[in-house]
Amino acid sequence: MDIVSVAFRISCATFELGVEMWRSAHGGLEMTFQKPEGPERLENRIRALEFFSGIGGLHYGLEYAHPRSEVVAAFDINEHANLCYHHNFGLKPTQTGIQTLTPKAVDKLQANCWLMSPPCQPYTQGGKQLDDKDPRAEGLLHLIELLGLVQTPPEFVFVENVPNFELSRSRKLMVDKLDELGYEIHEFLVTPLQFGIANDRRRYYLTARRVGLANDSSREGKYSEHATIHTTPWPKSIFGKTMENAPQPRMLSEYLEDLDDTTLYKVPDVYITKRHKFRFDIVNPSDRRCSCFTKAYGSHHVIGSGSFLQTDKFEKPHNFDDPTDLLDLGLRFFTPTEVARLHAFPVDGEANIHQFLDGGVPAASRHKLIFPPNLTTIQKWRLLGNSLNCRVVGVLMRDVLFKMR
Ligand SMILES: C[S@@+](CC[C@H](N)C(=O)[O-])C[C@H]1O[C@@H](n2cnc3c(N)ncnc32)[C@H](O)[C@@H]1O
Repeated sequence: MDIVSVAFRISCATFELGVEMWRSAHGGLEMTFQKPEGPERLENRIRALEFFSGIGGLHYGLEYAHPRSEVVAAFDINEHANLCYHHNFGLKPTQTGIQTLTPKAVDKLQANCWLMSPPCQPYTQGGKQLDDKDPRAEGLLHLIELLGLVQTPPEFVFVENVPNFELSRSRKLMVDKLDELGYEIHEFLVTPLQFGIANDRRRYYLTARRVGLANDSSREGKYSEHATIHTTPWPKSIFGKTMENAPQPRMLSEYLEDLDDTTLYKVPDVYITKRHKFRFDIVNPSDRRCSCFTKAYGSHHVIGSGSFLQTDKFEKPHNFDDPTDLLDLGLRFFTPTEVARLHAFPVDGEANIHQFLDGGVPAASRHKLIFPPNLTTIQKWRLLGNSLNCRVVGVLMRDVLFKMR
């Protein structure tokens, strides 16, 4: 080992000791990190950029994960999503394609954290899987390039996408770039069901934390040479903080609104009768699981877009061979508020169970999700179908990305 790397390691060890002392003095709950340009400099605030911001699922997750965090700029091309984002956070997302962002513009924002949930269509199973050749991957590919071009790469990166992304060329490009720039990387494929939430939405997540310098030869091995996608029942167990059992999801009844009039959400008979012998995805209020809501939920695309809720004739066995036999089950769509609860968005009051719960203790996020009054129900479903589970994001950010505990 040459003298320069010995000196670097000693300075890192001294720095880590300082961080540990600082941590214990602050009850082990504070986050510390190192600025790449000077290991002695401590910071404890997160200034995030939210790319592909939608209705801000990553923003809510960040607020849960870190008490001193702010999103300093958001970017999305969807007008309705931006309306909603502005309505709730008071921050107007930039409505231009992410592929047009220059390194200078990004540097100017002085952010130390990049959050991104790029479009999933290039990777979706059943889709064309054009991957990096799909024009919708352009924004993500541009961000990967920007990582190497900005003067100060972010300390933290968080990515969300669909299963199958882990096999893509786009993911490889991203991991290679993060590896090259000295990030510690973790990848996950997990579902809210594993976090005690009654909704199945298995997703890919990546956390990257900058621990070294670009092309740092003293780092042992590249992540990509031993990459692991964590799929364990409770991700904390990976990091030595085992939870005995993943919490059992609550019954769907606990997520439901008390509706005076359900006709607005009734599944039209024609959606049911025209699908002969199709096994509809029907759940009832005592179930502890419903399936993933996509942006087609509430439309006539009933296959694979999300569960229908049965509200009547619970004792009656379903006969899927005769769709008319399903018409008296009182099938309705989950309302946008119910979907938002199942995605762990903070739609209710602070002490409500639908807020983030941690060991039974509600952890409030600073902003609520309230849809602007001019959005239609179908627009709300679309936005929610594109969004994500804020609690899963919050836990992964808190425990893995920021190592808050
Ligand atoms: C998977 S959704 C992310 C949703 C978000 N995480 C949320 O909680 O609502 C992808 C978002 O990227 C936006 N988008 C797609 N291509 C974009 C581009 N080139 N530049 C900016 N935004 C883009 C879409 O409008 C959509 O809102």
